[in-house]
Amino acid sequence: MNKALDQVLQQEVDKRRTFAIISHPDAGKTTLTEKLLLFGGAIRLAGSVKARKASKHATSDWMEIEKQRGISVTSSVMQFDYNGHRVNILDTPGHQDFSEDTYRTLTAADSAVMLIDVAKGVEAQTIKLFQVCAKRGIPIFTFINKLDREGRSPFELMEEIEQVLGIRSVPMNWPIGMGRELSGVYDRMKNQVELFQGDDHSTIQVKKVDGYNDPVIREMAGDYLHDQLCQDLELLDVAGDPFDLEKVLNGQLTPVFFGSAVNNFGVQTFLENFLQLAPKPEPRRSTQGMIEPTNEKFSGYVFKIQANMNPAHRDRIAFMRIVSGKFERGMSVKHVRAGKEIKLSQPQQFLAQDRDIVTEAYPGDIIGLFDPGIFRIGDSLSQGNEIVFDELPTFSPEIFAKVTVKNALKHKQYQKGIDQLTEEGTIQVFTTVGFEDTLLGVVGQLQFEVFEYRMKGEYGVDVQLQRMPFQFARWIVSDKIDPSKFRINSTLVKDKKGNYVALFENEYAMRTAMEKNPDAKFLETAP
Ligand code: G4P
Repeated sequence: MNKALDQVLQQEVDKRRTFAIISHPDAGKTTLTEKLLLFGGAIRLAGSVKARKASKHATSDWMEIEKQRGISVTSSVMQFDYNGHRVNILDTPGHQDFSEDTYRTLTAADSAVMLIDVAKGVEAQTIKLFQVCAKRGIPIFTFINKLDREGRSPFELMEEIEQVLGIRSVPMNWPIGMGRELSGVYDRMKNQVELFQGDDHSTIQVKKVDGYNDPVIREMAGDYLHDQLCQDLELLDVAGDPFDLEKVLNGQLTPVFFGSAVNNFGVQTFLENFLQLAPKPEPRRSTQGMIEPTNEKFSGYVFKIQANMNPAHRDRIAFMRIVSGKFERGMSVKHVRAGKEIKLSQPQQFLAQDRDIVTEAYPGDIIGLFDPGIFRIGDSLSQGNEIVFDELPTFSPEIFAKVTVKNALKHKQYQKGIDQLTEEGTIQVFTTVGFEDTLLGVVGQLQFEVFEYRMKGEYGVDVQLQRMPFQFARWIVSDKIDPSKFRINSTLVKDKKGNYVALFENEYAMRTAMEKNPDAKFLETAP
């Protein structure tokens, strides 16, 4: 036992918060991220994250597609310090073209911030990302954004969160007016009001009050808004859920904050509350039981591999989440699957797209490892004991295409490319029963583009992709009947392990198949 290391580890773990922001494009994720980084002093100029997002010619050697489209193909990581905390934000692409990597990145977060546009409510991409977080049971904090615009009533939004996402919510603060009338928010936990000042709302006045009935609020916000505030909060006190930290930490209750990211309104109080309530790095399950972050022996796992960031060198970066112990540059660790000792010599940490060499890191941190092709998604690295962390989940594909090779002479390279890219998790591959056609399945269109790009760039193969009309894949499991004999109005395919999978064009066809085959299970992912 090394007492000094124990102490340092405990301190470093206690101060860390690693989370992802989940939202639908346009809800304001880039804006909120930027404000958070500004508070932490991680960037000097407002607009720089945004500028990167918009820039069509990023200065880094990030993947070519990313440059062409001005979007982040795969998620990156941002780190900053605030009030004694070290904060890691795992960025998930805000663009519609998200991919399985987006989902996998969520598995490296200890909590999530769900950002919702006050006028639009819970949107499609938010639902998908929420479900991945909910499956893991991680705490989810909600920020309802754009309060400076006319939006839906806060009660309506809370109801929608419960109906659509199945999670109860507890407002931590409550808007005083909205849109043009927005005057501020009432902080229910601290019993204080935060009011906009001046015509341009550029400053915020914070005042302690004696409950929401305090006449001081009436003086500051006027009769009309104060009456409404009192009415709303009385209703919440009677009918709303009380704050319950245990439920929050179990993912059963989401604390809700109202604000306006672009006006920097409510962002700081959100950040402070969040840092206080959000969990520090959690233990992870492995073949050796739960691995505590304060375990002296270093361990971590790879959750994402970003290929070809520099096309000239074909290098890849494996993103690793540290689970336990202290990481030091140049340390030797066991690559458990490969059964080899490897030296971690060129680790990188990320701030947006600038990469820095990191010399030490702790549980909760994400580091990028130079990967000459030795890592796969889900690989465990450890010091001492051979620890293998639980497999990362797979996700049900929703978009499908038939793939063919344009030049038949390239068949060997084509097969090699498909095998390797499947193994890396770039795409999922299926073979139709009977016709032996090859189908690819993805969760985001972008994965097809990355697939085509890499097949050409790395294997010299031009492929043709023909979109198929399927929307759902279900793995069929039955003890009684051979799945190939099922009466299913769908296309039957096999995955790479030979499991039967039915592809459906719509939900109706899927439901009918399930009703006709009550003895079978229809699983969303491979058994
Ligand atoms: P995203 O990353 O989730 O896609 O969203 P992003 O931050 O890019 O924000 C989308 C749009 O919403 C931006 O406007 C942004 O300025 C605006 N926005 C963000 N927060 C707020 C807010 O609190 N109130 C209001 N009214 N708008 C907000 P844009 O017109 O697309 O870009 P820009 O011209 O403003 O930069």
